[in-house]
Amino acid sequence: MSDFTSNHPPLRIAVLGSGAGSNFRILLNEVLNGRLNAKIVAVASDVSASGILEIARKHDLPHFYIQPGKFKATFEPYIESRLGHLLQEHDVELVVLAGFMRILKHEMLTTFKGRIINIHPSLLPKYPGLYAWKQALNSGDTVTGCSVHYVDAGVDTGKIIAQAEVDILSDDTSETLHARIQKAEHILLPLVVKQISEQRDEYLKSFKPSIK
Ligand code: GRF
Repeated sequence: MSDFTSNHPPLRIAVLGSGAGSNFRILLNEVLNGRLNAKIVAVASDVSASGILEIARKHDLPHFYIQPGKFKATFEPYIESRLGHLLQEHDVELVVLAGFMRILKHEMLTTFKGRIINIHPSLLPKYPGLYAWKQALNSGDTVTGCSVHYVDAGVDTGKIIAQAEVDILSDDTSETLHARIQKAEHILLPLVVKQISEQRDEYLKSFKPSIK
C-alpha cells in the first residue's frame, strides 16, 4: 500500500550503522507506511550488538555483521571490498550511513561513487567528526543542526545535500541538545532520501542499475 505515484521501482537502499539505529527506524517506518518509495535491501553494522541490527532482525530484513578487523576507525581494504561486493550482490542503489562510525576509504567509494550519503549532527562544514553537538555547545554558538551529505574520502567533507537548523538554548546540556538534533535528523534524512528516490537521475548520476 503506498500513497505515492512514481514511475520508478522502489529505490534499493542499504543502511549502515554502528549504534541505536533511530535514523534507520524512521526510514524503515517511512517505507512500511508507504511514504517512501524504497526497499531496505541490506542493513550492515560493524557492531554485532547494535540496535540497528536488532531492528533489522525484528523486521526480517537482510542484515550483516561486518567483522571490523584490526583498525578502529576504518576498515582494512579487504573488509571494505567484501562489504562492497555484498551490497552489489543486493543490487543496492543508495547507501545510507546512519550513525556508521567507520570512515570508508577504499572500494566502497569507487563502487558506490556518488551514491553514499551520511547524516551528521552539525551544520557542516562546522564541526566534522565526533561529538559535533558538544563542539557547537562548547563554542558558544546559538544555532547548530544536522546535515545530509555525500560521502567522500574525507571525514564529513562531501558535498552537502540538505541541512536543518536547531537552536542552542541557554540551558542546553550536551544531552538535551543532542536529543533535539536527533529529532531534526529524523525529519531531514527521510526527506532527503525521498527526494533522491523521486529524482534519481539528478542525485545518483553515476548510478548504472544492475537490477534485472
Ligand atoms: C546520529 O546522531 C548521527 O548524526 C550520527 O550518529 C547518530 C546515530 O544515531 N552520525 P542512530 O543510531 O541513528 O540512533
